[in-house]
Parts: sequence; structure tokens; C-alpha cells
Amino acid sequence: MSHLPIHLARRMASIQPFFVMDLLGRARRMEAAGRSIIHMEIGEPDHPTPEPIIRAGLDALRRGDLHYTPSLGLPALRESIAAFYQERYGVAVPAGRIVVTPGASGALLLALGALIDPGDRVLLGEPGYPCNRHFVRFLEGEPVGVAVGPEGRYQLTAELVARHWRAGTVAALIASPANPTGTVVAADALAAMVAAVEGRGGRLICDEIYHGLVYEGQTTTALACSDELFVVNSFSKYFHMTGWRLGWLVVPEGYVDAVDRLAQNLFLAAPTPAQYAALVAFAPETRAILDARRDEFRQRRDFLLPALRDLGFVIPVTPEGAFYLYADCSAFTDDSFAFAERLLEEAGVAVTPGRDFGANAPERHLRFAYTTSLANLAEGVRRLGRFLA
Ligand SMILES: Cc1ncc(COP(=O)(O)O)c(C=O)c1O
Repeated sequence: MSHLPIHLARRMASIQPFFVMDLLGRARRMEAAGRSIIHMEIGEPDHPTPEPIIRAGLDALRRGDLHYTPSLGLPALRESIAAFYQERYGVAVPAGRIVVTPGASGALLLALGALIDPGDRVLLGEPGYPCNRHFVRFLEGEPVGVAVGPEGRYQLTAELVARHWRAGTVAALIASPANPTGTVVAADALAAMVAAVEGRGGRLICDEIYHGLVYEGQTTTALACSDELFVVNSFSKYFHMTGWRLGWLVVPEGYVDAVDRLAQNLFLAAPTPAQYAALVAFAPETRAILDARRDEFRQRRDFLLPALRDLGFVIPVTPEGAFYLYADCSAFTDDSFAFAERLLEEAGVAVTPGRDFGANAPERHLRFAYTTSLANLAEGVRRLGRFLA
């Protein structure tokens, strides 16, 4: 035991944990004690990293090529990402504007770090990815949670941006497809939002981490709309590389120098073996594996969505992407947190309560992740059915 008093910075008071981690810990302890648990709380792909990526990572380790890379990333990887934008979206993005980061998390920190002064406001849709508001608070800005609902496909819109923009607002942050709702911002809505933000002298940050995991329609990158916005992406989700901690950020030309300085000071560089491994992430052999997995996620969505609706969960819009369903559970409870605890204890099904995703009716919502096999999902649905009966 330390004899010194614990001194915590005041900002720590507004940094909350992921509540689901408690639940996951409890689920793991129950499994260790012999209980069978169906995991629908986990926000990462269940399949391993594709073999070609692992081989490339091992090759880098064997070569011993493990020095720091430049802060902005391995030049060859930045070129590969630029080529990916051209091939996938037909959008020319110079490699010079691409920064390789420790995950989308590192990219979000760099983008927000370069933009926010203490007190600056950032518009965020709620429900939304919880780290965003904590990043803003860490930088002593003001995260402004804007309630988004099924009428706007759970996404910020140009109209909401206009309604909530005030003096001191510097940015709006969206994710498409989104966590926890899986919805995509349509191309015309995206263009309107870019115009709304840039017309007010602000910057749009668009988190495209779930690109590649879209099951219908065309996805456009926000970079097709403007060179003046920030795009966050990652090797975590579609590329199945969560633990390698690798992502990227595309920045407007005028921000490259500032973001380079921040990256040098905060991280020095993204992990070197992961960067070498990711050099083969865009190769046709790897993409074939990843696209087959995307198709499997689609099958899971197409099974789970109607099954949950049949049970009485309300999922008003069909999510086009990611691997989440955000369900209104108010037919069963007015306390989704207690309900998730009972589901775990009594039914052996782990889900994420709405409380992790902000202040917009969290007590009425649960997030179901289809990051487990169809057979497990079917068993989960059976257990839910028995529990609700
Ligand atoms: C919307 C969103 N952005 C960013 C992240 C962070 O991902 P990573 O740092 O693994 O790339 C996540 C992880 O779940 C996410 O859901």
C-alpha cells in the first residue's frame, strides 16, 4: 500500500470506463467456473488475422526489422493506403496526407489534438462510440452530445449541425457505419453535412473504421466530398487486426506538419511489425479472405435482425454495416443495465447495455454484436426466447 495520497487530475472525473468490460470480466469468470456463455458483447471480429498478414508480420520479426519507422508511417504503407483509396473509391489521396497511427484510437487523438483548444465544442451523435467524448474531455474541450434517432438513421445531419452549432464549436465527428447502430450516412447526406460544417468554418472528422463491413449499397469515403476534412480508419475491423494496434488518419494538407509533430511526441511511431504486416493487407489474396468474412457477417446480420425483432426487440432501421444491432428493449425493461446483468446471470447471454453509448435513452437500449458464429447466435436467440418467456 502506498502511503502517499492519490492525486488525480481533475479531468479524470469525466473519464468513464467501458461498462461492458465489467460484464465481459464477469462473463469470463462464469465461463471459468463452467457456465456456457454466448458472447454478443464483443466489438471485434471473432476470426483470426488472415494468414498472409501474419506471415508478413513474422517475416518482419525474423528480419529483425524492428526500429522506429518515420512518425507518419512506413512510406510503402502510406503509398499502399493511397492506392487503396484510388482502387476502392476512385478518389485520389496523396500519400503525403496519410498518417499511420496506433489504431483508429491514435488517429482520433491526433485529429482532435490538432483541432481542440480548452473549451472548444465538438458535436457528436448520441448514441455513439464512447471514447470520442472522453478524447474531447481529455483535451479539455466540450463534447456536445446531439441526440440522434431512427428518424435520421441514428446519424448527425446537416440540419442537426446547423441547429447545434454555436460560437466555440470547432468540429463535428461522425462514424459511418456507426457503432453502436451500424448505420451508414448516405452520400448526399454526407455532402450536405460537409457543407454545413465547412460553411461554418469547422472541420468534419469522419470515422470510417467499419468501411469494408457494409452489406448493401455503395459506400463513399468522405474524402470524395472534400480535401478539408479528417478521415479516420483502421486495420482493426474489416482487416481483422485489432491487437496489432494499427490504423490511419487522412489529414488536410495544411495539417500534416502539426499532426506529424503531435505523432512524434505522443507515439514516436505506430508499431513497426504491424506496419510491415499491413503491407499485404490490400493484396488480392488477403482481400479474398476478408471479403468472404464480410459475407459471413452479412449472413449473421440477416439471421439475427429478424430473430431479435420476432422476440420483441425494436430495431427500427436496418443497419447496413459494422457488426452491431442497437435494439430498443423497453418492451421488457426500463433499466437495460440491470436487464443485461440478468441476461448474463440467468440466460448466459452477454450483451452491451446502452449506458456505454452516451446519454440518449441508454436505459432503453442494448447493443447486440454478431461477432460470434451463426450456431452461437442461434443458441443465443433460443436462450433469449426462454428467458423472455
Ligand atoms: C467507431 C470506432 N472508432 C474507433 C475505434 C477504435 O478502434 P482501434 O483503435 O482498434 O482502431 C472503435 C473500436 O471499437 C470504434 O468502434
